[in-house]
Amino acid sequence: MTATVIDGKAFAARVRAQVQTHVGRLKAERGLVPGLAVVLVGEDPASQVYVRNKGTQTLEVGMASFEHKLNAGTAEADLLALIARLNADPAVHGILVQLPLPGHLNSELIINSIDPAKDVDGFHISNVGLLGTGQKSMVPCTPLGCLMMLRDYHGSLSGMNAVVVGRSNIVGKPMAQLLLGDSCTVTIAHSRTRDLAAVCRGADILVAAVGRAEMITGEFVRPGATVVDVGINRVERDGRMKLVGDVHYASAAAVAGAITPVPGGVGPMTIACLLANTLTACCRANGLPEPEGLTV
Ligand code: GUN
Repeated sequence: MTATVIDGKAFAARVRAQVQTHVGRLKAERGLVPGLAVVLVGEDPASQVYVRNKGTQTLEVGMASFEHKLNAGTAEADLLALIARLNADPAVHGILVQLPLPGHLNSELIINSIDPAKDVDGFHISNVGLLGTGQKSMVPCTPLGCLMMLRDYHGSLSGMNAVVVGRSNIVGKPMAQLLLGDSCTVTIAHSRTRDLAAVCRGADILVAAVGRAEMITGEFVRPGATVVDVGINRVERDGRMKLVGDVHYASAAAVAGAITPVPGGVGPMTIACLLANTLTACCRANGLPEPEGLTV
């Protein structure tokens, strides 16, 4: 079997186009411009690239982008004061503090100081609790993107066996909650799981979010299963740097029914969902109906 490739790049472009259409309508009919504030502390090169891409795409869909770049030695009190100002600013509907933060800053304290209604990352403890109890929340962008692609490919996910490999707060745990919300039978596996390959072979939907390059090979995949690869790992191959996922693509694609590639799979969906969350936050803040298909 050769797997169908799920094209995340094309899907993300569709999501952005939908967001842009809604933003245009909000502007024309209500004079409203959704605004996203991104806070970057320090000069981590990868974070700088992410933040630049977020800013560019925010402007491309017609939203306002507010970038706050602080030096690496910023005091916690100063960062908290900035977040308090953004919380109170009616032009800001979404706030994202780029992670990881420098070691002297308490990430949990900082994230939990964001107004949950503006927490477009869905990392605030209130949003985690709301998602876990099946209530309306802000949903973390990467798992939301994965769910959108799975719903688009399968229609209903009800009754399917889903295995999520990875238990991070950013991907693994919220991904499991979302799949449970769509009536999958969900297993969360991780590096300590006994006979991981056998557990994974029980999956109709296999989500790899372990952060280990090409760890999930074809041996882990049930014939015909759908494989979603969340990993982004930089590895050296033949003297050159290359991006690979947590899935060993060639062997997995030979067994799977469908698979997301790296690059061009889950990655582009993350920023698209950040824009979707900002739009959702703006609609909620103004008592307007939420855009359909852009949130759970
Ligand atoms: N760093 C890497 N990915 C993310 C993300 O999704 N959100 C935030 N805030 N920081 C990140």
